[in-house]
Amino acid sequence: MSNVAPIYTFVIRDDNSTVYAEVAKILISTGKWKRLKRDNPRFNLMLGERNRLPFGRLGHEPGLMQLVNYYRGADKLCRKASLVKYVSSFSFSQMLIKTSPELKDPCNWFPESYVIYPTNLNTPVAPATNGISHLKSSPKTDEREVFLASYHSKKENGEGTVWIAKSSAGAKGAGILISHDANQLLEFIDNQGQVHVIQKYLEKPLLLQPGHRKFDIRSWVLVDHQYNIYLYREGVLRTSSEPYNSSDLQNMTSHLTNHCIQKEHSQNYGRYEEGNEMFFDEFREYLLSIHNVSIETSILPQIKQIIRSCLTCIEPAISTKHLSYQSFQLFGFDFMLDESFKVWLIEINGAPACAQKLYPELCQGIVDVAISTVFSLSVDALSSSPPFSTSPSLTPSACSSPKLRAPNQIGPFIKL
Ligand SMILES: Nc1ncnc2c1ncn2[C@@H]1O[C@H](COP(=O)(O)OP(=O)(O)O)[C@@H](O)[C@H]1O
Ligand SMILES: [Mg+2]
Repeated sequence: MSNVAPIYTFVIRDDNSTVYAEVAKILISTGKWKRLKRDNPRFNLMLGERNRLPFGRLGHEPGLMQLVNYYRGADKLCRKASLVKYVSSFSFSQMLIKTSPELKDPCNWFPESYVIYPTNLNTPVAPATNGISHLKSSPKTDEREVFLASYHSKKENGEGTVWIAKSSAGAKGAGILISHDANQLLEFIDNQGQVHVIQKYLEKPLLLQPGHRKFDIRSWVLVDHQYNIYLYREGVLRTSSEPYNSSDLQNMTSHLTNHCIQKEHSQNYGRYEEGNEMFFDEFREYLLSIHNVSIETSILPQIKQIIRSCLTCIEPAISTKHLSYQSFQLFGFDFMLDESFKVWLIEINGAPACAQKLYPELCQGIVDVAISTVFSLSVDALSSSPPFSTSPSLTPSACSSPKLRAPNQIGPFIKL
């Protein structure tokens, strides 16, 4: 604990976030930060609650620069249905405008997906023949006709018949059906009464040995107040501990790699990896020794490209560079690998938890990169950054982030 009196203040409005509880501990330990009661408006930093952020009230306190841990509108990427619409619309716009390099990415890293509204909601149905061009006129359309057309064409062409229906608001593997039968998927959604996504099931995932097991990959991504994008260098595979069985689509533990599903339902939970988690160092060695594939040259470049595409495309809609308050946000990007080592985006989490052993490093990284650069604390390498003035007359150009010496490696992050 330093002897300096606290000079900055923060409020915590989310008592459930383990990440921000740790961030708060680190801030207090610097001796330069003081926690205020949650309703005190005179804070520098709000560690807010994801769905209840008073964005409209931020940045109006005379003399205070305010920073908040979410980007307003980032949820467009984090709900399944809106991610589908978003990816389709930027695929669509890249067909029209080929100006930005990010828009040239055809998004072929996202499994083909359709948004389906239960029939009783009477949502207009997009005609099958138009492909995704209906998005231009009306973003809220039921895409079952387009799905059925693709389902049949894939079936005829031998491109696979398995699809997965997921509730748009769902999480932790709940509200999911995997099936060969298009009508069963649509009926399932009609019975659930909620908007869902039907997505092409990745039928040939890369499997882990021993045990012939499926996995997904979680990467943490931090976007700072200047919209610099940082990939946390450590990532984790969430593994299944039951063999992958493509002829039994009902067996959840074989097909869904969510930690809670494995923990609750897998007979073999923890048998292959402690807590069904494998970290990048072990995976790096595994890929090299079993497949002669390098995570650095084959996998990470794909992961970085996907993260860049998603976050860059949404930047104009959510950036706070020119607002009277600033945001940063931690995202959890979830990927799968197929048997040809292609990376697929599965979902983006806007309020990710962290693997237990990574908390200290990741949270210190958040403090150093996303908070101390704004409120200029003497945190080692970043201390040379121009302090963020607390004056209300602050202009956006005065907020430019520090030019860091090592352009790509910043603490535990890789700058994208
Ligand atoms: N298109 C897909 N192909 C194969 N497996 C998938 C696909 N989508 C999801 N899964 C599996 O289902 C799990 C849950 O899906 P996800 O989209 O992450 O929803 P949730 O919000 O419930 O976690 C994933 O972790 C992955 O194991
Ligand atoms: Mg998930």
